[in-house]
Amino acid sequence: MATHPDPRTATWRPPASAEGPITADVPGALGGSRLFEQPQYRAELQAFCDFIEPPGPVAVEIGFDYGGRLLSLAQADPAVRWVGMEVRQRRVEALAERAPANLLAWRVDARTVLRQFVPAGRLSRVDVLFPTPWWDEGHRAKRLLLTEAFVADLARALAPDGVAHVATDVGPYFAHVEGLFAGWTPAPVPPVAPVPSRRERVCARGDLAVWRGAWRPPPAATR
Ligand SMILES: C[S@@+](CC[C@H](N)C(=O)[O-])C[C@H]1O[C@@H](n2cnc3c(N)ncnc32)[C@H](O)[C@@H]1O
Repeated sequence: MATHPDPRTATWRPPASAEGPITADVPGALGGSRLFEQPQYRAELQAFCDFIEPPGPVAVEIGFDYGGRLLSLAQADPAVRWVGMEVRQRRVEALAERAPANLLAWRVDARTVLRQFVPAGRLSRVDVLFPTPWWDEGHRAKRLLLTEAFVADLARALAPDGVAHVATDVGPYFAHVEGLFAGWTPAPVPPVAPVPSRRERVCARGDLAVWRGAWRPPPAATR
């Protein structure tokens, strides 16, 4: 079946403004990394730390939205502990109600967690499906998920044989992503989940082109 790009996607450009220095603090969508200095959020952070502490694979889906895909992955393989990170509160609450024991749904800005709270090499897989491209330069400069800084955080958080998996239907965004992962090792794209994400369904229904890639982190010495 032929696929075609959404014409709007051809106009996407990476943010024009250069990224600032990588610092410990992340100015995130939910108050940034300083949020977890507030007592009411410390319990959430502790729950995450407890969830990822026992040995065994830990995988992450960032921006799970409706969460059906993530739920199906967790149900399909109880030996893997999945953490879903999503900024939309109602989506998180809805998934948390249905989550099996090996799935933690967390309302959080993933950039903060990857920068500050994941022990080095702890993650076996990070899925980022259809990250918001942000069409206006202001939001793109501030909120774009896949940036040089974020990919550096991913490289630290992933195990040496861990995999970052990205999908998008915005071709120029994928070109930007390929540039960010240039020093990484291409890996097989993980098998399709039992249940597709909402955007995967939309793209399949509309016969829209989807770009996918998976990469293993570079050796620590070259990061
Ligand atoms: C375009 S939607 C794609 C949703 C889903 N992955 C799919 O394939 O249908 C992007 C999602 O990422 C979430 N998101 C955006 N920035 C985020 C961040 N920094 N941390 C966690 N989630 C984020 C948004 O709330 C939204 O649900």
